[in-house]
Amino acid sequence: MTATEAKHRIAELSKIIEEHNYNYYVLDKSIISDMEFDKLLKELIDVENEYPELISPDSPSQRVGGTVTKEFKTIRHKYPMLSLSNTYSEDELIEFDNRIAKTLSSKYEYVCELKYDGVAIGITYKQGKLVQAVTRGDGEKGDEVTANVRTIKSIPIKLRGNDYPDDFEIRGEIVMPHDIFDEINKEREDIGEEPLANPRNSASGTLKMQDSAVVAKRKLDCYLYFILGEDLPFQSHYENLDAAIRWGFKVPKYNMKVGNIKGVFEFIRQWDKARHGLPFDIDGVVVKINSYEQQKTLGFTAKSPRWAIAYKFKAERVSTKLESIAYQVGRTGAITPVANLKPVLLAGTTVKRASLHNADIIEKLDVRIGDQVYVEKGGEIIPKIVGVDLSKRPVHSVAVEFITRCPECNAKLVRGEEEAAHFCQNENGCPPQIKGRIEHFASRRAMNIDSLGRETIELLFNSGLVHDIADLYDLKMEDLLPLERMAEKSASNLISGIKSSKQIPFERVLFAIGIRHVGETSAKKLAYYFKDINALEKASREELLEVGDIGERIAESVHNFFSDEKNKEIISRLHQKGLNFTLSKEALATTSDKLKGFTIVISGKFHKISRDELKKQIEQNGGKNSSAVSGSTNFLVAGENIGPEKLKKAEKLGVKIIAEDEFLKMIE
Ligand code: IVH
Repeated sequence: MTATEAKHRIAELSKIIEEHNYNYYVLDKSIISDMEFDKLLKELIDVENEYPELISPDSPSQRVGGTVTKEFKTIRHKYPMLSLSNTYSEDELIEFDNRIAKTLSSKYEYVCELKYDGVAIGITYKQGKLVQAVTRGDGEKGDEVTANVRTIKSIPIKLRGNDYPDDFEIRGEIVMPHDIFDEINKEREDIGEEPLANPRNSASGTLKMQDSAVVAKRKLDCYLYFILGEDLPFQSHYENLDAAIRWGFKVPKYNMKVGNIKGVFEFIRQWDKARHGLPFDIDGVVVKINSYEQQKTLGFTAKSPRWAIAYKFKAERVSTKLESIAYQVGRTGAITPVANLKPVLLAGTTVKRASLHNADIIEKLDVRIGDQVYVEKGGEIIPKIVGVDLSKRPVHSVAVEFITRCPECNAKLVRGEEEAAHFCQNENGCPPQIKGRIEHFASRRAMNIDSLGRETIELLFNSGLVHDIADLYDLKMEDLLPLERMAEKSASNLISGIKSSKQIPFERVLFAIGIRHVGETSAKKLAYYFKDINALEKASREELLEVGDIGERIAESVHNFFSDEKNKEIISRLHQKGLNFTLSKEALATTSDKLKGFTIVISGKFHKISRDELKKQIEQNGGKNSSAVSGSTNFLVAGENIGPEKLKKAEKLGVKIIAEDEFLKMIE
């Protein structure tokens, strides 16, 4: 393909791909299959790799991220980002309307919108292209998170049509949809990490991540609700947002124009009920005067516009009796106190339990058995106890004393220095921990033994056949058949499932054995770096830290895991049974040790190889990518238009600077 042809094809593919993104993420319409979509994207990436100089930041290929921002730039907002005055009271809403009627002598319209519970963002477009995205910050200045925002597929990178203003800012809320939030927490649970508290915190945490490739994987969404600029097409809010729909923005279809406060109340009543069915969280509705002329007349207070108000839904709250506290033991030994409540109806479901999280929370709330407690369902999915009705406290009640021994195995509990949770450290003797580890081992993304679900594990464990993951590989038909509820068919499925799991590649076995904090990605990185279990087992903390993306916590955890004799014994038995503990030949062929021990920074534009490919090559050859030049940098690979700061720093620190060709020779 010639450069001209490539340019054409890139433009063509970009257009088609963005059209599909628009249909899927903005309009919720799926026109082609995932496979067809991936094929188009792959073709684009292939052409771009062949002609890296043709990669534009606006290319859909760039939506997968890959930019690492160590520190976000502070940017002053062109228009300050104000907040809204808010209320929980219908009376105050009527007062708001009365004030407006008094100030404006003419007729007015309200626009009713949902109040999205996420993170506010202001996005600037110039000549139809996304140029900058800034968080609210303190309202005056915010953080520039453009690279992260580009990965959100419902946000257009290039606008549609041709009647958009030359330069404008659009504001909205970045939210994390419930299904994504649940998925992330499921994954965190898999690797023994505390779950994220609620979708809003997760959205805000995600937006501030340094690596935009991770942001891309988190699938944030964005609803736009405010537009600012000098030459907007209409003189009213609703109509401009309507135009923004045509420019490709995801303006909520829930917006409604009403003629009076009665219409506002109808909107509120409808959404107070319907909000539980939305795929994301809202915490109220926002009411805005539609006409700009009238907005101007009403003006602003120091903090917020007088022409808008947020009506917040009261978090649904009921009171019920705390009957007892149960303590659950997770796979990692973490103890979670759970309140058993007298069943009560809350937000349409019967609530019998609420998480109390940890000892600190119990102490802070000072909840006691027999107390009448307030339970709320707010942004969190799981109801929580928010307080105690002290007037109803039984006379002789005593403060809860957190258990000191494991409720399952009676081992003494310990509490880490900086951890809120108590842990049972009897890893090898505590039933829920053992069963939890087996469950993780068999799960789909690990060894994928689908005939080995929770119930079967329970059965195998209780019958004394399986005490650890290695025991699975000793199971025979004659062991299984005498078990209750184990028919011939299920027994043979189980045996064959276990047998075929021996084909699972090393990197997944490494994930499956359940080293704390080692998720799928870290397992893969470790497997590719050390290539077999023996090398990994021998690695010191320092050596572990040499691996890209492996931090202190994971290094520590891996090291501890292999210091444990029992773990070593299980691995050695699994080894004997024929599980993969070495990287496959195919995977090995793509790796080398040529850059082992080297920390490398790349900067600038490259011609023979794309930046992503370059980074991949560094990792596959055993090196470590870093985004900033420091004392520990070994090389700076300098491309065209290299960042002057990086160059200066490298020269000052005496870091070796090499060109693209030289680098390619090193790994030849
Ligand atoms: S309009 C000057 N509309 O609520 C008006 N804000 O307390 C600017 N929010 O910072 C905001 N949904 O993060 C507006 N439909 C909506 C909204 C909304 C959520 C957030 C936004 C803002 C805060 C105001």
